[in-house]
Amino acid sequence: MKKIGIIADESSETKARVLLIKDMENFIKAEDIVLVLNGSEEKPVCKILGILRKGQGKNELLNSSRYRPEVAYAKIGGEPSSSREIFSFEVIPIGSFQGNEKLTSNRLIIQPRSPVYIFDEEENPLDLIKNSCKQLSFLDAYLEGHPKWQIPADAFYIPYHVGVFGTTGTGKSWFTRNVLIPFYIKNGYDVLVLDWSGRDYVPFFPNNTIDISQIAKEENAIMEYFSELTDNFFGQNNLRYAFEEYVTGWKNKIYGKSPEQVHNELNQHLQNYIKENVERRDVQAANRRAAERSMKRITTEQIRYLMGDVEIEEILNSLREKKIEVLNLAGYSSNLKLSLFLTLSRKLSDLMYKGQNLNLALVIDEAPQYCPYKPEGILERVTEEIKNLAALGRKHNLNLTLISQGIAGEIGINAAVRRNLNTNFYGRLHPLDAASEGGAKDWLQPYGISADYLLTLEDGRFYFSGVMNPCPVPLLITYEPKDGGN
Ligand SMILES: Nc1ncnc2c1ncn2[C@@H]1O[C@H](COP(=O)(O)OP(=O)(O)OP(=O)(O)O)[C@@H](O)[C@H]1O
Ligand SMILES: [Mg+2]
Repeated sequence: MKKIGIIADESSETKARVLLIKDMENFIKAEDIVLVLNGSEEKPVCKILGILRKGQGKNELLNSSRYRPEVAYAKIGGEPSSSREIFSFEVIPIGSFQGNEKLTSNRLIIQPRSPVYIFDEEENPLDLIKNSCKQLSFLDAYLEGHPKWQIPADAFYIPYHVGVFGTTGTGKSWFTRNVLIPFYIKNGYDVLVLDWSGRDYVPFFPNNTIDISQIAKEENAIMEYFSELTDNFFGQNNLRYAFEEYVTGWKNKIYGKSPEQVHNELNQHLQNYIKENVERRDVQAANRRAAERSMKRITTEQIRYLMGDVEIEEILNSLREKKIEVLNLAGYSSNLKLSLFLTLSRKLSDLMYKGQNLNLALVIDEAPQYCPYKPEGILERVTEEIKNLAALGRKHNLNLTLISQGIAGEIGINAAVRRNLNTNFYGRLHPLDAASEGGAKDWLQPYGISADYLLTLEDGRFYFSGVMNPCPVPLLITYEPKDGGN
């Protein structure tokens, strides 16, 4: 350990500043972890582990709003003396301990003059924190600037749900692939990823990907699809009923047939239904024309999409061996993706209502597509389901990992859903988010992390905060992307 300075005037039990010894300002950085020997070097009343934030350089002689000889000298290009310069950092206490005891929150005033030390690379200060975990595990990530200091995380809180936030291109999907997914698997969770655009996960798990078209669809989802393709059956109820009759018992009807056969059969069925059930000749003619137009819009390719036969149960069962499956949702409309989500979430809730422990992490990338700020229509149902899954999940080992560019407000995710995310990773944020109410600012400001920090974070850096972090203060972490990216 190396001494870097002493505690300055005006300290309290929750905050203090360290005055740096000469030249320390050249390498001591924000986010460094320090140890304060509270009281004195020889007989400290306790040792306080802290994190450095909000650095400050002061030289009163150079006050820019007052005229002094030094300022005048600087004005003509001279280099004023540095003898009265002071550099300091705020120390945010993580916790305190005496001897070999466990770390507890600090209640003692951090005494001015107490010496402050920094850890060598070989001594991982996070070792002092990890014992407070109920179920200790490690993220394959490290404290920014210290590749040897792996991050402890409490796997007990996996089913208390996780949020990953950051503007576009900050590395959320990479982080999820390289750090979170391996962490879940290591701790006995299978992982099901919903890849909205098929770009972030599908290419990385070629043997563990299933296309939305391969999955068996529920009859109401099929009706919704036909309705979408035909502008709500061209507003004709008879046509809707005709479709409904064919779709009832869909699975048996399509069994062993080709999409072309199903297409022909459906066409025939619509015509027959109208002939047999519609009495008025003029209405019959209009219905028939609408049926023809519908069948022109519905291609055999679309019928093929509806003929998937893999049941959600099969996917869940095969996960026990495969550990990870990516659902490729690319290529279809939002409504279709969302109706598949509803099928999936109903299945998961059913299993949980029956008392089953799922040991499953459901990764929902592009979360605002599912539970936006103000959900409407099908999104309202989806948002409600996500809230439900979150509540049930805590007792049945279901983790939801929601990934979003924004946190709160219009660019964020629904507040009621967000409340359920008890561990959050914040990457570089959009200015709207960095400052908004209920967003990162409220979570991070008390720990000396200001909006400026959040706006300027580099790619792949995240503040780790919440219940899974055994350290009560958010930590800035990063990782080596192992899968090579694209
Ligand atoms: N650990 C890292 N170190 C350096 N760069 C990284 C790291 N992780 C990710 N990046 C960079 O971030 C880029 C974007 O990553 P990613 O696709 O995960 O972003 P995203 O946050 O998911 O974006 P979007 O919101 O658009 O989906 C990568 O192409 C890579 O260049
Ligand atoms: Mg992404």
